[in-house]
This record gives sequence, structure tokens and C-alpha cells, in this order.
Amino acid sequence: MRILAIETSCDETGVAVVEDGRRIRANVVASQAAHQATGGIVPEVAAREHLRALDPITQQALSDAGMELRDVDAIAATVGPGLIGALLVGANYARGLALAAGLPFVGVNHLEGHVYANWLYDTETVPPEPELPAVVLVVSGAHSDLVLMEAHRRFRLLGRTIDDAAGEAFDKVARLLGLGFPGGPEIERTAKSGDAAAYPLPKAWLPDRYDFSFSGLKTASLRLVRSLEAKGDLPVADVAASFQKAITEALAEKVARAAAEHGVRTVMLGGGVAANGPLRAEIQRRTSVPLRVPPPRLCTDNGAMIGAAAFFSLRHRTGEIPTLVRSSMPLA
Ligand code: KG4
Ligand code: ZN
Repeated sequence: MRILAIETSCDETGVAVVEDGRRIRANVVASQAAHQATGGIVPEVAAREHLRALDPITQQALSDAGMELRDVDAIAATVGPGLIGALLVGANYARGLALAAGLPFVGVNHLEGHVYANWLYDTETVPPEPELPAVVLVVSGAHSDLVLMEAHRRFRLLGRTIDDAAGEAFDKVARLLGLGFPGGPEIERTAKSGDAAAYPLPKAWLPDRYDFSFSGLKTASLRLVRSLEAKGDLPVADVAASFQKAITEALAEKVARAAAEHGVRTVMLGGGVAANGPLRAEIQRRTSVPLRVPPPRLCTDNGAMIGAAAFFSLRHRTGEIPTLVRSSMPLA
């Protein structure tokens, strides 16, 4: 089954063709450069940029896959969670295409997409499917959810952030340090030449719970930056490395504990922050359960993950397939 899948929940326009939920035939992603100037996403600008990009990117994806619309079996799009204007552009474009081509439309939960990115491949050899049950950490610019995936499309929320999302914390601290947007990759790059032990920052521990809290870490980083600036030059690399250490340790500790408590067969990561190398390493170091992480380009928003999730939602009709666009939509 070939699915043409569209992702427009935030600031990447993604269109992909995915076969049987796993094999990537095409995956075109356009990151909106318009937000660099504002250092953050302006929702209306994002919606307009999606509208501009969708037609050429859809043509490109079909051409990369060597297909035409009539070779496709279904059309999928993200219907939430995300920026409502951005979601409406992609979902309505997909519904219009589906109607014109006489194909079924499949609405996809963006967070489910981040989880199913772990099923994708574009290699000659077919990697084995992740084994379930699994503990999954979905960490993006808007979400930090720790979930137990009991079976396909059966998720149980273990914990989530009670304030900022992990990616949001990366973006805000990057901004404090005068680094570019998005901040995650900038912090990771800058931290490589820094000393992670330079400044101990609080991990904002919430004991006996799987919830996270990052606003305290953000405030402590702000205070640290201001006091260092007052003393003279800001050691950007050392602060970036210290911040990255604090946040990755907080995430890794709870992932490892959840994996042990639930006796799972796999630990999976998803979402933009999962692209972070030190986070992967820290989780690997703390658990003996096999770790699956998509390659970095499949951790950040893309159409292929939506195609994968759409396929498994058609195959395992265990839960509702959403069709209405909603800005908030829980995974579990
Ligand atoms: O999943 P995603 O592309 O979009 C959302 O659904 O939000 O995640 C974007 C977030 C941004 O906050 C970005 O700074 C972060 O993921 N990110 C990273 C890295 N690459 C992207 N954070 C840490 N390390 C990275 N290498
Ligand atoms: Zn995302």
C-alpha cells in the first residue's frame, strides 16, 4: 500500500510517499526560512508558507518516487496537534487531493507520527520492526511525553512536561546564548567544544513521578548567563554543554526507570530533540534495553513519519482515526 503523506503542523512542509508503512519512496522537507529573522515561529507566516510550498513539494515527492497520483492508494495528513492555521492548510490540501483522485483520506496524530518514524527505512536491507511493548520518549519543540506503547496504536501516558517542552528549553537557552534558531542543533554543535561540568544546573527533579519540568532549568540558565555577562565575556560553549548535560540527564533517568519498571523490550525516541547525540548516548548508558532512534532527519518533522503512522492506523484499527483538525490532541 502506497500512501502520499503530508505534514504541516509547525514550520516544516513535508510530503512523502511511503510503502507499507515502512519503506520511504520519497521524503521532501522544506524548512521555512521565514522564521530565522523573528527567532521563533509566527503562526500566520507558517500557514502562508505551507500554502506556497505544498504544490511544488507534492510534485517533487511524486517525481522522486517515480509515481503519479494514480499510483497512490491513500492520502494522509497531520490533523493535530499543532498550529491550527498550519494544520488546516495541509489537511485541507490533502482532503482536496483525495477527493479529486477518489482516494481515502487518513488523518494522523503528529505524535503518533514521531513514534512510527522508528518503523521507517530507505536502505536496501530491511531492518527488523521494533519489538513491543516499548517505552517511548517523544521530545519535540512542543511536547515532552513519556509513554508506554503496549501494542500498535495502544499508548499509555506515563509522564509529560508540566511546563516547557524539552525542545522549547533548547530553543530558549540558545536564544539567550545568541545562537540561531532552531536552538537544539546549535546547542549540540556549540557544546562539543565546551565543558559540561563547568556549571552545575538544577535538573528540577520531580521524584516518584515520570513528569518533567524544565522551566526551573531555563530560569537558572538565564540567571547564570546574566551573572557571567556581568563579569565579562560569556563562555557560550561551557554554558551550552552544562545546559545540555542537565536536560539530557533528566530525560534519560526517567526513560531508564520507566523501561525497568515496565519490563519493556524496546526503548524508542522520537521528535526533534531525539536527534540530539548526547541524549541518545545518555539513555543508552543507563539502560540495557535495546534503543531505537530514527536517523536525525526522521526525528524532526517530515512527511514520511505521517505515512508510516497512517499505514499502521489503517492496519490496526484499534483506536479512532482522527479526521477533524485540532490544535491539541493527546497521544495516549
Ligand atoms: O519534532 P520537531 O521537528 O517539531 C515539533 O513537532 O515541535 O522538533 C523541533 C524541536 C526544536 O525545538 C529543536 O530545537 C529541537 O527539536 N531539536 C533538537 C535537535 N534538533 C532539533 N534539540 C536538541 N538537539 C538536536 N540535535
Ligand atoms: Zn514534531
